[in-house]
Amino acid sequence: MEKTILFKGQTIHYDFVTPGIEKSKSAAAQLMLVHGFPERGHIFQRQIAALADHFTLLIPDLPGSGNSPYNALLSTTSDFADGLLAALDAEQIDKIVLIGHSMGGYIALAFAQKYPERLSGLGLLHSTAYSDSDEKKANRLKAIQTMEKYGGPAFLKPMIPTLFGQAFKAKHPEFIRDMIESGNNFETRALQQYYQMMHDRKDKTAVIAQLRKPILFISGTEDKAAPAADLMTQASLVDKAMIEILDGAGHMGFIEKSDQVNAIIKDFLAMVHQMS
Ligand code: MLT
Repeated sequence: MEKTILFKGQTIHYDFVTPGIEKSKSAAAQLMLVHGFPERGHIFQRQIAALADHFTLLIPDLPGSGNSPYNALLSTTSDFADGLLAALDAEQIDKIVLIGHSMGGYIALAFAQKYPERLSGLGLLHSTAYSDSDEKKANRLKAIQTMEKYGGPAFLKPMIPTLFGQAFKAKHPEFIRDMIESGNNFETRALQQYYQMMHDRKDKTAVIAQLRKPILFISGTEDKAAPAADLMTQASLVDKAMIEILDGAGHMGFIEKSDQVNAIIKDFLAMVHQMS
């Protein structure tokens, strides 16, 4: 079911999918999936198809993506995390498993820092608790300038293919073409806002070390944005960690290896359920 809420003067759009009251009673059965850059909630359609019969799913379009308009009042990952909280409150959901892809993971980490009591588990899907390196920070600022000069979609065109592993890129050029095409729907100022937010975000390793909730880490052997080695180091800080490295996947494992990732998410939800 498509829903909207009002948050800081703008709407946030989300998809709310319930398998039925009986199955959705336990906290472990409620899952929020938060997309990355430059995506929208719809990117998780392979997960919706596999998980919707078993779990309640809440999948937002972050402000500035998909059907959720840009909101000039937001600037930090914590601001965006407040938007997630507003959707949870609107659905009267007390606790949720929150899995974020990349930029969505940075926002999920801000949520974990601010509202740990609302989480039963956390997932970093090709994401990281580290802040940007100095080099990455400089590249973010350059990218913001490039977008200013040439527009956001022109920036996305060469960037989107780099998100995928070699095998997927060779086999599914149409998927990448479509993603570049939908890049035209973004307002440049929204993409710039995301880049500034990612540039400014702080290290969250202390958050994962102290969360005391199960944390799922997923990376791919060809993921350059959230390298497997970084996630293995982070998982070692967490007492209830599940870590999976997808062979031959880039930064988009939930698309590139969707069956495998869906099975991992189901296992993780079962682990959360056992521990809660
Ligand atoms: C994403 O997939 O959300 C971005 O690659 C994140 C980033 O640039 O750090």
